[in-house]
Amino acid sequence: MKKDIISLLDLTKNDFDIFFKRALELKKRFNQGIVDMPLKGKSLGLIFDKQSTRTRVAFETAMIQLGGHPIFMRSQDTQVSRDEPVKDTARVLSRYIDCLVMRTFDHSLVEEFAANSSIPVINALTDFFHPCQILSDLMTIIEKKNSYDNVKIVWVGDGNNVANSWINAASVLGLDLVVACPEKYSVNKDIVNNALKKNKHNIVFTDDPKTAVKNADVIYTDVWASMGEEEETDRKHKAFQGFQVNKELVSKAKDDVIVMHCLPAHRGEEIAEDILETKNSVFWDQAENKRHMHKAILETLIIHNTKLRGVQSG
Ligand code: CP
Ligand code: NVA
Repeated sequence: MKKDIISLLDLTKNDFDIFFKRALELKKRFNQGIVDMPLKGKSLGLIFDKQSTRTRVAFETAMIQLGGHPIFMRSQDTQVSRDEPVKDTARVLSRYIDCLVMRTFDHSLVEEFAANSSIPVINALTDFFHPCQILSDLMTIIEKKNSYDNVKIVWVGDGNNVANSWINAASVLGLDLVVACPEKYSVNKDIVNNALKKNKHNIVFTDDPKTAVKNADVIYTDVWASMGEEEETDRKHKAFQGFQVNKELVSKAKDDVIVMHCLPAHRGEEIAEDILETKNSVFWDQAENKRHMHKAILETLIIHNTKLRGVQSG
C-alpha cells in the first residue's frame, strides 16, 4: 500500500478491499461497545482551506476513538499563509505528527505536501478529487447491496471532484458506472481518458439522466456548484434543468434503488425534498460510515508507516 491517499488511483483493488473489511469490522466492534485504541499516543494534523462538517468531525472523532489526538489547523493560521514553503512545512510537520489530512482547492498542494512528508498525507477533498468520500460510500453500498460487483451506479449531476473519484474507483474496481452530466459540465477529459484506458466497458458517459437511471441500483448526486464555484450558481442552475434527483427520475430505476448524496444537500436543486425522506435514501448511513471508514484509513496508514519508518531507522 502507498504511504498516502491523494487519489483513488493510488489504491489497488486489494487495498480497497482491506479498507472495506476493516471499516465494517470496526463499525461492528464499535456498536458492540468494544473500545479499540491502536493509535494511542499518535497525533493527526488536519489542515482545511474549505468548510467541512462531516469530513472534519468524522476524522477527528475517528482519531479520538482510536486513542489518538487530532490537531485542527486552518491554513491561514499557519505560516504557509505567510509564504513558508510547503516543502519546509511538510518536513516540520512530519517531525510532530503521525498523519496529515488536508482539504484544499488546488490539488497540486496536497501532492506537494505528500511528496515532502515522511508521514501519510490524506486528501480530504480538493477541486479534483474526494477519495475518502467514495471509500465510505462504497462501504455503504456493500452494506445495502452485499457487494459492489454487479451493482449499477449512476451519477446524476455535475462533473465535479466527487464524480471524478467515482470514475477512479470504477476504473480500479471495474464498477458498472454511468455518469450523466450536462455536456457543458461534464467530467475532466484527462480523467475520462485515463479511466477508459483501464476500464473501457463498464463506464458510460451521457447527458441523458432519464435513460441513465434505468435499472439503476444506486443513484448518486451532489451539489451543482461546489465550494469555490459560488459565482457560477445561477448559470449552473439553468444548465442543470432535468438533472434533479426527484420521485419521477427515481421511479425509472429499480424498486430497491438506493439514493446517495455526499451532503450537504441543496433541497429543491440537485435533490427534491421528498426523496430525502423516502426509504430509498441512505444519506445518514453514508454520513455515519465516514467515521468508520476514516478509522480504517487512519489505522492502516499510520500503523503501516510507523512500521516502515521503524525498519528504515533501525
Ligand atoms: N461530504 C462531505 O465531505 O461533507 P463535508 O463537506 O461536511 O465534510
Ligand atoms: N462537490 C462538493 C462536495 C462537498 C462535500 C464540493 O466540492 O463542494
